[in-house]
Amino acid sequence: MKLRKAKYSRSKATAVEPTFDDKAPVPAHVAIIMDGNGRWAQARGLPRFVGHRQGVKAVRSTVRACSDLGISYLTIYAFSSENWKRPASEVDELMGLLRVYIRRELTELGREGVRIRFIGDRGRLADDINHLITNSEESTKNNTGLTFTVAINYGGRQEILEAARRFAQHVQEGEHEPEDINESLFESYLESEKLPDPDLLIRTSGEQRLSNFLLWQSAYTEFVFTSTLWPDFKKKNLEQAVAEYQRRERRYGGSSH
Ligand code: IPE
Ligand code: IPE
Ligand code: MG
Repeated sequence: MKLRKAKYSRSKATAVEPTFDDKAPVPAHVAIIMDGNGRWAQARGLPRFVGHRQGVKAVRSTVRACSDLGISYLTIYAFSSENWKRPASEVDELMGLLRVYIRRELTELGREGVRIRFIGDRGRLADDINHLITNSEESTKNNTGLTFTVAINYGGRQEILEAARRFAQHVQEGEHEPEDINESLFESYLESEKLPDPDLLIRTSGEQRLSNFLLWQSAYTEFVFTSTLWPDFKKKNLEQAVAEYQRRERRYGGSSH
């Protein structure tokens, strides 16, 4: 039998932006790699920290947009385990912004019913930041709105290693046998333990990599990459990413139907 040439409709499809359908299911959990603050500032001849400050505004509008769209979980990558490699002045600026952000914005969001959580290694963070983090988690833990998780000093590999180390410790203490390990038990050792896996992961700024974000959890996540720089990311961009998600077929290794 002669095989018919497959119709290639993709280029045609991408020419038209998919439109957000408010009747179609939205992803329950959206994860975002907020990238491009530095380039946003550079393009305007401004220092990088101006881009970071502008980036905070984009976080504000994105949290609200997620609630509006009916998304239940939002996780943002704010500072990676590898971001310590940046000049001390930039790291200080980012930590300073974090302090202000938690005090002002997160307190306000908490009042609006948002449940706030943090993932990442807290060991290297300043004591006052740790204090703010614990406070905002505690004071919002009974909120029933959007679950908003901020990843700070977070690395997917580090999270997996820490889970393995703690499991090994429990084996040594006789609490578990090595053969007890399975996906759900292993997940209970991860920091994201109470979060569903992300359905949609968005990365801004045109880079197409995970940069050590949610490695375990993104096994079957749909990825959307956009060239928009993070400070320019608006509700419309979120809707476009969700629209792209809505037309994907998730198969989890099964066959198409
Ligand atoms: C993302 O923007 C913010 C953080 C990583 C903290 P960048 O600072 O990485 O911006 P670019 O990638 O240099 O443009
Ligand atoms: C990833 O962005 C980390 C965050 C957005 C917090 P980076 O800008 O650090 O990633 P790379 O270095 O380009 O991979
Ligand atoms: Mg970057």
